[in-house]
Amino acid sequence: MKIRNLMVTGGSGFIGSNFIRYLFNKTDFDGRIINVDKLTYAGNPENLTEIERSYPDRYCFERADICDFDAVDDLFTSYAVDSVCHFAAESHVDRSIKRPGEFIYTNIIGTYNLLESARANQERFVTFHHISTDEVYGSLGKRGLFRETTPYRPSSPYSASKASSDHLVRAYNTTFGLPATISNCSNNYGPYQFPEKLIPLMTLNAMEGKALPVYGDGKNVRDWLYVEDHCEAIWTIMNRGKKGETYNIGGNMEMENIVIVEMICDLVDELCGTDRDGSRRDLITYVTDRPGHDRRYAIDFTKLQKQLTWFPKESFESGLRKTVQWYTENQNWVERIKSGEYQSWIEEQYGA
Ligand code: NAD
Ligand code: TYD
Repeated sequence: MKIRNLMVTGGSGFIGSNFIRYLFNKTDFDGRIINVDKLTYAGNPENLTEIERSYPDRYCFERADICDFDAVDDLFTSYAVDSVCHFAAESHVDRSIKRPGEFIYTNIIGTYNLLESARANQERFVTFHHISTDEVYGSLGKRGLFRETTPYRPSSPYSASKASSDHLVRAYNTTFGLPATISNCSNNYGPYQFPEKLIPLMTLNAMEGKALPVYGDGKNVRDWLYVEDHCEAIWTIMNRGKKGETYNIGGNMEMENIVIVEMICDLVDELCGTDRDGSRRDLITYVTDRPGHDRRYAIDFTKLQKQLTWFPKESFESGLRKTVQWYTENQNWVERIKSGEYQSWIEEQYGA
């Protein structure tokens, strides 16, 4: 069975919007995409203006909250949805530490609602792909890698809520035979990422000459993946992955936070020039550590590589350069998203 009517949840966020752009521009997908997004602070429909203009018959946007079961269920019926790629989530660890509630609703209840609607339409269902994170596995010591068989040990309310949603998806496959797959991916970076995450936050602060707040000793390690490589992996799994299976996705790119921040400083110095004394590295400021801060993440993605022949293409050096350059060249996007002008525009367009 072929994917015809694909519901993408959270398609106006960072990875979701890159995924929709990737499907239209770089694959032979010829079906319809229904982007279902609540447009929280992290969702920006401007990320897809070009797609909306170029594919008016094949791209539909629906502003809806996945926590609203009736709204979700109506969309399944009216668009005859046969597949789901589920990105919608509250996604920032620091926010989950301050206010966990939204994470419980969106990430757990929202996922449950989608699963229930998919189950009710199971006779036409092709695939339900759930996007998750390597953070469900907890923290690694100096050695070792996360495998698909690594036990779940989430540390933050964010990762605990994602772990819970993974368990639900797996249970709907095991119990009801829903044709579902899960991917657990490492940290993504690239264009359109909301400037609360490490790479865009440091880039914008460096451009504006603001302090660069590095948590703890700066030696926490993440495994970085360029967002388009992630999109390619997701599409590969949706089409060729075995139902009921989980696939780890990683970049083979372990980096200490401090090293990344220094690279960003050097790139901003190079691309924006230095009208100040010395390098932007002087802006680096060590601040109090994040509570429960996982020390190291690293992914073993041999399963995806061997079974589905996927491998990340972008090197970290070139990916980071492209990303920093994108932020320097898209000041309007940055200004609007930071100013609140964008929120009032959303209210005008779509209601409060
Ligand atoms: P993001 O925060 O940029 O985007 C999330 C999107 O979901 C936004 O458009 C937001 O408006 C929408 N949304 C939030 N709550 C909603 C609700 N109740 N109903 C409908 N839409 C809602 O997140 P992202 O970085 O693009 O992450 C996407 C997915 O990938 C998440 O599930 C996240 O857990 C997972 N993930 C992210 C990373 C990463 O490094 N960013 C790594 C691995 C996995
Ligand atoms: P982040 O981008 O929030 O992703 P995650 O917590 O999901 O891995 O953070 C990446 C790493 O950068 C993490 O170890 C925390 C650290 N960090 C800082 O040191 N300073 C910051 O201002 C932020 C946002 C993150």
